[in-house]
Amino acid sequence: MAGRLIVISNRIPLEGPGSGGLVVALHEALTDRGGIWIGAQETDADTASEKFTRHEAPGYEKLTFELTAKDQEEYYLGFSNSVLWPLCHRRTDLIDFESRYADGYERVNRRLAHMLAEILEPEDRVWVHDYHFFPLACFLRELGVKNRVGYFLHIPFPNGSDLPALPHHETFIDWISSYDLIGLQTQRDVAVCLEFFRGHPKAELLLDGSAKYGSRTTQVRSFPIGIDVDVMLQAADARRADATLRLGDGERLIIGVDRLDYSKGLVNRLKAMESWLQHREPDEPRATLLQIAPPSREKVLAYREIRDEMELLTGKINGEYSEIDWTPVRYIHKPVERELLAALYRRADVGLVTSLADGMNLVAKEYVASQDPEDPGVLVLSNFAGAAEQMPDALIVNPYDVDEVGEAISQALRMPLDERKARYRELMRGVQEQDIRWWTRAYLDALARCPVNLATET
Ligand code: UDP
Ligand code: G6P
Repeated sequence: MAGRLIVISNRIPLEGPGSGGLVVALHEALTDRGGIWIGAQETDADTASEKFTRHEAPGYEKLTFELTAKDQEEYYLGFSNSVLWPLCHRRTDLIDFESRYADGYERVNRRLAHMLAEILEPEDRVWVHDYHFFPLACFLRELGVKNRVGYFLHIPFPNGSDLPALPHHETFIDWISSYDLIGLQTQRDVAVCLEFFRGHPKAELLLDGSAKYGSRTTQVRSFPIGIDVDVMLQAADARRADATLRLGDGERLIIGVDRLDYSKGLVNRLKAMESWLQHREPDEPRATLLQIAPPSREKVLAYREIRDEMELLTGKINGEYSEIDWTPVRYIHKPVERELLAALYRRADVGLVTSLADGMNLVAKEYVASQDPEDPGVLVLSNFAGAAEQMPDALIVNPYDVDEVGEAISQALRMPLDERKARYRELMRGVQEQDIRWWTRAYLDALARCPVNLATET
């Protein structure tokens, strides 16, 4: 297809791969097909440059736009991560809003729209990612940009009943209806998004599942994001994990891998582990929870608070249940590179995902992809992770019920080989069929098929 693919995301890895589902997926998508990846970079200067900076990258081009300390505080920590993130993850109680956050969010999005409009060629397709850029297409349209502009929201679409908590929420419909295609993780998100349009007095739902607002039509569809299965499989070497972990004889392993974020249900997870320890029969084998939880957005208070809570609870559980030769919870507050993660996943008897709200959760898919088909582990998966929609063969749990999760851990540890294999086969089939290449292709094909919106005004 003619024209360049231009991908926009706030986070762009400039030195090595980063953690977080979005960058992992976009790197894999762009490595395959080439294009331009535009992301943010901090600057010490007081004023951000109006020009992109070019970075060397194999296979595709990387451009960055600058964020000053003020932008970082208002647009990234403020509006994106203290307003939109809690809103979309159903934690309106954690919204921490100041007017300057909304100003900073608009300022950065308008600046980026101007810079982008300067370099766009008529045939280029723009693919915007995530909540940092809800208004980007709207600002591009104001500048007369007619290119196809698609959006993919990696996190849950906000509930209609929560949206009024968004300051200036009346403009939200202008923002999202300026995209030609809104891609969401799950069918449930699509239903919530269409319900939002349905509830608006000036919007209209069309029979093909698109929404009409003003002179524009926006398609809304789900594209559950996938992973690169081969990358995980190749790295999944249990011997490397054994050499690193040094578990006791017969000791079982449960693994959790998450940015330290309140949406991941980490406190509930520790409590579930505590429940399992409490109910454990004396003849049951020992199991250790290896919880890898690298720091994330630590300048936001809610993230510092969860860190304190995790440290307290880990200390309490280990104080009560540790033996001289066994520490039931190993909590690692550092990022771990994905090759080692794959090895640890393979070694783990149980993969534990207890998100309270989560767009997809790639860890669930990576865990499955890393298993030994002859002796696979069991995935325990929260009903509130987007992945649950595609992975019914996991042990699906309600993360709010810590005893239920504790029982699921016990069931997973006792599960006979035949059942483990049967569940694994089904899960792996899904992970392989809808992998990262499927996701990119499905989204970009749908974007290419979108009827062109000739009008630029919303
Ligand atoms: N990840 C990593 N190292 C870590 C923790 C996480 O590489 O120490 C990766 C993990 O393998 C996965 C991604 O970060 O690919 C997390 O994606 P997920 O969708 O589970 O959650 P998100 O962070 O996007 O909310
Ligand atoms: C999630 C979001 C991404 C974000 C990532 C890491 O995956 O959907 O947009 O990049 O978390 O968060 P951070 O704030 O460090 O970029």
